Amino acid sequence: MQYPIYRPRRTRRNETLRRMVRETRLSPDNFIYPLFAVHGTGVRREIGAMPGVFQLSVDEIVRECREVHDLAIPAVILFGIPDRKDERGSEAYDPNGTVQKAAAAIKDALPDLMVITDVCLCEYTSHGHCGIVENGEVLNDPTLELLAQTAVSHAQAGADIVGPSDMMDGRVAAIRDALDDEGFSDVVIMSYAVKYASAFYGPFREAAESTPQFGDRRAYQMDPPNAVEALREAALDIEEGADIIMVKPALPYLDIIARIRERYDMPLAAYNVSGEYSMVKAGAKLDWIDGERVMMESLVSIRRAGAQMILTYFAKEAAKLLG
Ligand code: PBG
Repeated sequence: MQYPIYRPRRTRRNETLRRMVRETRLSPDNFIYPLFAVHGTGVRREIGAMPGVFQLSVDEIVRECREVHDLAIPAVILFGIPDRKDERGSEAYDPNGTVQKAAAAIKDALPDLMVITDVCLCEYTSHGHCGIVENGEVLNDPTLELLAQTAVSHAQAGADIVGPSDMMDGRVAAIRDALDDEGFSDVVIMSYAVKYASAFYGPFREAAESTPQFGDRRAYQMDPPNAVEALREAALDIEEGADIIMVKPALPYLDIIARIRERYDMPLAAYNVSGEYSMVKAGAKLDWIDGERVMMESLVSIRRAGAQMILTYFAKEAAKLLG
């Protein structure tokens, strides 16, 4: 017998064969599209480092959601930008906040599009941190109350899923308790269980106007070199009642996604964050890479690592290519 007997190239010879042996597929079903809600009407303000991504008023958000829905993308996640910020981030839990208004308007227009809301205080606080600050420190337990209040106000506005992204300890349990007490036991919690203190969030902070005014988030978000700790974070959120767990960012943390997929039998999401988007857009603009191919390869690699949901600014573009 002649070597080699097994030739892996045999099943790569043409696109039909490749299609038959393909292990991972991308579909618009996998995508969650992030949207930034501002006050006013007719507002459509593009983010400098995120071409194609806009701060949108509620009327524009509804328009955008119709397009998302037509592309068969099942869900959007809302971030709010308030007119006024204060020490306690009051607009986060104001029934007339931008996220609450946007959630209600979307559910009214498109009842079967899933509305996810980001539950955090950093867009709403004058200091830009994700909780109550005292003597330069972000206080954990007093913040839980405000996060729970925020989640309940989102549920009252019609949110189907709430996504706590603050990284305070014990917030999933506090939010689950508050939602159940208020009669929202059906509202899903998608927790940012494993969220790293990442430089890849840079462009988002411009979009959400949420850059910390002093210090950074390293005292509450995870340290990038840690992996075992990520498993512990995931375990905690699952115990506290999270329905979906998330890893964030996605591409620099594919190892974490894969380890969590192996260990836990929970729906798993990954956030392909702003910096991951901006780098592809910048490289493509310079003609240094093929933007479309890099986008599709990145998204399928996140699926291959084990996430079934991908929060991504590429959602519409990728869905169009898949459609
Ligand atoms: C809020 C929040 C952030 C992101 C999602 N929710 C920023 C941060 O923690 O500073 C980042 C998303 C992105 O970069 O696309 N806490």
